[in-house]
Amino acid sequence: MQEAQKIQTEALAQIEAANDLSALENIRVAVLGKKGAITEGMKTLGSLAPDQRKEAGATWNAVKDAVASAIESREVVLKRAALAEKLKTETIDISLPVKPETKGAVHPISQAMEELLAIFSDMGFALAEGPDIEDDFHNFTALNFPPGHPAREMHDTFYLPDAADATKRLLRTHTSTVQIRAMQEQKPPLKLICMGRTYRSDYDMTHTPMFHQMEGLVIDTETNMGHLKGCLMDFVRSYFNIPDLKVRFRPSFFPFTEPSAEMDIGCSRKGGELKLGQGDDWLEILGCGMVHPNVLKNCGIDPEKYQGFAFGMGVERVAMLKYGIPDLRTFFESDLRWLKHYGFSVFN
Ligand code: DAH
Repeated sequence: MQEAQKIQTEALAQIEAANDLSALENIRVAVLGKKGAITEGMKTLGSLAPDQRKEAGATWNAVKDAVASAIESREVVLKRAALAEKLKTETIDISLPVKPETKGAVHPISQAMEELLAIFSDMGFALAEGPDIEDDFHNFTALNFPPGHPAREMHDTFYLPDAADATKRLLRTHTSTVQIRAMQEQKPPLKLICMGRTYRSDYDMTHTPMFHQMEGLVIDTETNMGHLKGCLMDFVRSYFNIPDLKVRFRPSFFPFTEPSAEMDIGCSRKGGELKLGQGDDWLEILGCGMVHPNVLKNCGIDPEKYQGFAFGMGVERVAMLKYGIPDLRTFFESDLRWLKHYGFSVFN
């Protein structure tokens, strides 16, 4: 039985020396496998005399058990070591500083909204919010677009299936909806802006089915057109960073304001190049007006006591003008080269 002892001694030494799981598996196959040393040794038992066989059988079994259990314990040790090694390579040193060259950039829409918010916050406006999915009342009726009013047709509305209570649902065509929600939910005086996505079924060089608007609303007991003009003049001069930017107000029409106006800023188009704050030309920038008494009434506000002004503009439009972006559609193409070119640093 020296043979069995020899196999055991050698196997135990090899097992002890195995330093990874595949080396250990090779040893297992070589010793305990179908053609392994112990298996072969046990095959010789059949040729022995019965009394010898008993003794030899016990020895081989003991050797087999010893080797198998040595493999098992070595396996536990190696598995634990392999896991520790893996964990070590997967750790992240969170004490390291962030890479200075960040790959991402702030989208010009987000940048413009940040700038708009900063300017109006400084003027004391609060930020209000409303849903993208609206109903006919907030998008039209409350804003003094009576049913069948032709101005409804100007909006190319995306309608959704009616709600369970037969309410007409739609994607808001303008952020003026938030004026209504704010007046319904809060008591005047009000001084708020809101910004967000708006939707119209339209697509060409200057229209995309989804775009962004910014809206402002001021309601108080003594608000007049002079306040509107001063506020918007301060705004455009600050936003475009042109202290003496010329402005003019042209009469216009919106169902929810009376009187209504469009505001233009001074520009030059000499040589086909648009330059703000120079020359004798004009560029339309936003719509505005004094809130129509019907709108106040629709929101439960007494028009004898309160009045106010409102304004609305396209965020893409003011972003294009300020950052020199020529095509509206590129805003929504998710082209990384475009974003790299027109995007802003997070730290800006
Ligand atoms: N809602 C208008 C539009 O989408 C923009 C607008 C014009 C908003 C005049 C106003 C306003 O608040 O007073 O065309």
